[in-house]
Amino acid sequence: MTTIASPAFSDQKPGTSGLRKKVAVFRTPRYLENFVQATFNAVPQLRGATLVLGGDGRFHNEAATQTILKMAAANGVARVLVGRNGLLSTPAASNLIRRHRAAGGIILSASHNPGGPDGDFGIKFNAANGGPAPEALTAAIYAATLAIGEYHIAEVDDIDLARLGECELAGMRVEVIDSVADYASLMQTLVDFDAIRDWLKAGHGLRLDAMHAVGGPYAIRLFEDLLGARLGSVRNAAPQLDFGGGHPDPNPVYAAELVAAMQGAGAPDFAAAFDGDADRNMILGRDFVVTPSDSLAVLAANARLLPQFKDGLGGVARSMPTSRAVDAVAAAMKFDCYETPTGWKFFGNLLDAGRIQLCGEESYGTGADHVREKDGVWAALAWLNLLAVRRESVGEIVRAHWARFGRHFYSRHDYEGISLAGGEAVMAGLREQLGGVRGTAVAGMAVTLADDFAYTDPVDGAVSERQGVRVEFEGGARAVFRLSGTGTEGATLRVYLERFSADTAEHGQATQAALARVKTAADQLAAITTHTGRTEADVVT
Ligand code: G6P
Ligand code: ZN
Repeated sequence: MTTIASPAFSDQKPGTSGLRKKVAVFRTPRYLENFVQATFNAVPQLRGATLVLGGDGRFHNEAATQTILKMAAANGVARVLVGRNGLLSTPAASNLIRRHRAAGGIILSASHNPGGPDGDFGIKFNAANGGPAPEALTAAIYAATLAIGEYHIAEVDDIDLARLGECELAGMRVEVIDSVADYASLMQTLVDFDAIRDWLKAGHGLRLDAMHAVGGPYAIRLFEDLLGARLGSVRNAAPQLDFGGGHPDPNPVYAAELVAAMQGAGAPDFAAAFDGDADRNMILGRDFVVTPSDSLAVLAANARLLPQFKDGLGGVARSMPTSRAVDAVAAAMKFDCYETPTGWKFFGNLLDAGRIQLCGEESYGTGADHVREKDGVWAALAWLNLLAVRRESVGEIVRAHWARFGRHFYSRHDYEGISLAGGEAVMAGLREQLGGVRGTAVAGMAVTLADDFAYTDPVDGAVSERQGVRVEFEGGARAVFRLSGTGTEGATLRVYLERFSADTAEHGQATQAALARVKTAADQLAAITTHTGRTEADVVT
C-alpha cells in the first residue's frame, strides 16, 4: 500500500449525475484518484464492506476500473463485485448493490455523452439503497475533493477482468461476475415472460438498438436468449469504446436510423433504443414514436397489467420539466403524484419510503421501485408486456390513452454549446420577470404561474432551490427553462414546451405545429437570440 501526496483539484463538483469531464481531464495524473479517494473519505461505511464496480465500457473504463480496485484495497474495502470486462449497466449496478447488500457502488459512465479519446468520461457513487448519491452526499464528496492532500493505492498488478471468478487483490476479495445474470433474473420476477414469448411466437417482430453501448449484452440475453426474439433483433449490440463514433442518446435525433426503420408496413411492431449505460430508453411502434412523458403516463394507466404492479400503484413521480400527462392519470385513477427536480436521485427517498412505485423523466428515463435508477431494458420489457396483454399496437394504445386522458403535446428544444455567460444571462433574464409576468399575456396567452421551481423532499425535508423556471399559461400550456447539469463544455439551455388538449379532433396534429404558440411565448420570455446569438435550437426532440 502506498500513500501518494496529491493536492486538490478545484473542479470536481458532481453535476446532475456524478462527475463528468472530457477523457483528457480524467487522464490528468491524480485526477481520477483524487475523486475516488474523496469518495472513500466521504463514505467511511465502505471500509470493511462490499463495493459494486462497473461502467458502460467507454474509453478509459478498464484503466479506471483497475485503478479503483487498487484504491479500494488500500482503503480497506473487504470485497468488490466487478462486472466482467468492467461492464455494468447503471440499473444492473443498482440491482447488484441492493441484492448483495453492498455499502455502495462506483459507476463509470458519462451516460449518453459521446465516448472515445476525445469524448467524455464520468464517475458517480451510488449509495446502499442502489440509488445515485443524494445531494447531501455529493456535497460531502465535493467538500472532500477540496480538502484532499493524498490518496491511497495498492501497488499490485492489474487483475484479469475478462475471467469470471474470485481472486485476491492486496488482501481484498474481488469477484468478477457475469454482468447480466442477476439483472436478468430480477427482470423475470417483474414481467410476464410467457406472455411476451407467446406474442413473439404469434409472429410479432421487434428491434432493439443498443447504440454500440453496454445495453447490448443485456438486450441479447433478455430479448433473444430468454424471450426467443429472432437473432439479430438487437442491433449495434457489441459495446465499443467510442460507441461506434455515435452519440448514444436514444431520441429521434440520435437514433434517427431506428425511427426510419420503424416506418411503413414492413416495419416491426415494437422498437426501443438504450443509451450508453442503458438506463435511458426510447419506445417506438410501427409509424409511432412515444414521448418519454407519454410512456410514463401509459405505464401508469396500465400498471395493473404488469405482474410487478398487480396490486396497483400508490404513487408516481415525474421530474418538473416532464409533461403532466402522468398527473392526469394519477388524478383520474386516484393515486399520488409527486413533482421533483431533474435528476433521478430525487426519486430515491420517495421509492425507499414506498410513496411511489413508478417514476420517469422527459429525458428518456423510466423506472420503478425494483432498482434505484432508471432502467431502459426494463421499460422495453414493460411495454412488450403491455402489447402482449392488450393485443393492440403501440400507436393504438397511445391514441386510446390520449382519448381517455387528453393529450399533452410535448417537445424539448436544446441550445447546445452556448457560453456559460449566455446561458446564465437567459436564466437571469427569466428570473427577473418572475415577479411581474403573472396575470399578463404573452403571445396572447394569460400567464397563470411563473416561478423558479423549489422542492422540499417530503421524506427528509431537504430543500432544493433554483431548479428551473416554469411559466404556465391558461388552458394548460407551459414553458420550462433550465440549464443542463450533465454537459462538459459551455452550457446547454433546455426549453421544454407543453400544451394540453382534451379534444380528440386535435390529437392528430403534428407536435411542433401544436406547440407553435407556446414556442413564440417562450422565445419572447427568454430572449434567447439576444443573450446567445442563437436563432434555432440545435436539437429538437
Ligand atoms: C441524467 C440523470 C437524469 C436527468 C438527466 C438530466 O441523465 O440521470 O435523471 O434527467 O441527467 O440531464 P440535464 O442535462 O438536463 O441536466
Ligand atoms: Zn444514462
